[in-house]
Amino acid sequence: MSEPAATSANGGHGPCTFLVFSASLRTESLNTRLALLAARAIEDRGGTVDLLAMRDFECPSYDGDGQQRGFPSGAELLRDRLEACDAFVVASPEYNASLPGVLKNALDWVSRFRPQPFNELHGLLLSASPSMVGGNRGLWALRVPFEHLGARIYPDMFSLAEAHTAFDEGGRIANAQLQGRFEANIANFMDLVEAARNYPCIKRAWVEYLGEHPNPAVDRVE
Ligand SMILES: Cc1cc2nc3c(=O)[nH]c(=O)nc-3n(C[C@H](O)[C@H](O)[C@H](O)COP(=O)(O)O)c2cc1C
Repeated sequence: MSEPAATSANGGHGPCTFLVFSASLRTESLNTRLALLAARAIEDRGGTVDLLAMRDFECPSYDGDGQQRGFPSGAELLRDRLEACDAFVVASPEYNASLPGVLKNALDWVSRFRPQPFNELHGLLLSASPSMVGGNRGLWALRVPFEHLGARIYPDMFSLAEAHTAFDEGGRIANAQLQGRFEANIANFMDLVEAARNYPCIKRAWVEYLGEHPNPAVDRVE
């Protein structure tokens, strides 16, 4: 008897789909180069990539009054692409030891949709910076809103230090050991996403404080 086909959270079958984007708007972005390298590594291991650019889902500054008039098309596009994937990978610059405002603004918009699309979605965080720590502090800050929204952020984050000199002409990380670590990080994340598809997590409600009872009127995620 043949094995049943794996079914994704969005009802799909076959390879898992990974939404990959860089959170930089800059043409020569180091994070976009890292996002492209992640996309290549995912495809090399048989995953399907949906590549998105930050500019595709840029949103005006979040404004509750504006929301009453309707969501910006960028937020709707990001919501749609999140709903269609099994997991997401973001390569984000570190700005002043935190995440870029343009990304936080997009997250704030998307967090207002119901159902809230980050809830229970697996995510992998990457960063690239010319600094010696590769923008890693920014990823710790980025974990906070994602985890708040119920995303399952992979524990191992990858930060590329001295990124302005780190890539070879083919777009790979010139240091073979580091390139190997990057590929292993991606591979391990992909394994988790596939496992989670076959063995869905049981979490159904999320509350912020001990003693708080699930209440659909105030729960931030379904
Ligand atoms: C407003 C601003 C703040 C920055 N703050 C940091 C920082 O805290 N840590 C860091 O490593 N790099 C910082 N940088 C440098 C960025 O890491 C660097 O410009 C990087 O190349 C940006 O990512 P990108 O190449 O993907 O656009 C900052 C850059 C800008 C423009």
